[in-house]
Amino acid sequence: MDAACWDERYRGSELVWKAEPNRFVAEELAGLKPSGRAMDLAAGEGRNAVWLAERGWEVDAVDFSTVALEKAERLAAERGVRLRTVRADLILWAPPETTYDLVLIAYLHLPWPDMAQVLPRAAAAVRSGGTLLLVGHDAANPEHGYGGPQDPRVLYTAEQVADLWRPYADILRTETRTRPATDTEGNSRTALDALVHAVRR
Ligand SMILES: C[S@@+](CC[C@H](N)C(=O)[O-])C[C@H]1O[C@@H](n2cnc3c(N)ncnc32)[C@H](O)[C@@H]1O
Repeated sequence: MDAACWDERYRGSELVWKAEPNRFVAEELAGLKPSGRAMDLAAGEGRNAVWLAERGWEVDAVDFSTVALEKAERLAAERGVRLRTVRADLILWAPPETTYDLVLIAYLHLPWPDMAQVLPRAAAAVRSGGTLLLVGHDAANPEHGYGGPQDPRVLYTAEQVADLWRPYADILRTETRTRPATDTEGNSRTALDALVHAVRR
């Protein structure tokens, strides 16, 4: 999906995603002492970026959807925190190197050759000792889970992500995690997410 498609999806006053952070983002990062600059890549409407800002991080929220970033700014204002929003196409844009204490990527799904460009740049943006966290729909999700993109070309495993981060970082966790979900008929389902948590060397 290009930026115009995402803008269309985000238009309207309702949040497409929730205002609360993703459960794995909150679980993985709750114990991390806020210590400087964080960057949320593909931040969308800012649920995770705002949560980080509320915890004391100085947050840059990056996305190529103008509508999403406007909603993220509104959510931040409602919560009494500030975000620096950056409109950029992650396929073309490289964040500044060794600048951030935390880089988060949640549910960014690009064709794998594009992800393979974005992921090393995300790792390079983190300072030594800083944290990298990715959460996304797992490649096994269409067959064994629920929701998310069904096109295998934009899905990945935690191991694929970890392989690209290993040259930069020590990998703390490479997992497939289950997440409760509800289908359109209100039935309980289980989604499969890939999770990688790493610390930059
Ligand atoms: C599924 S949403 C996830 C949003 C947010 N991370 C969250 O968890 O709520 C995916 C986001 O990726 C953004 N995105 C997709 N491709 C992008 C690209 N090439 N450059 C920048 N943002 C992109 C979309 O605009 C969208 O906001």
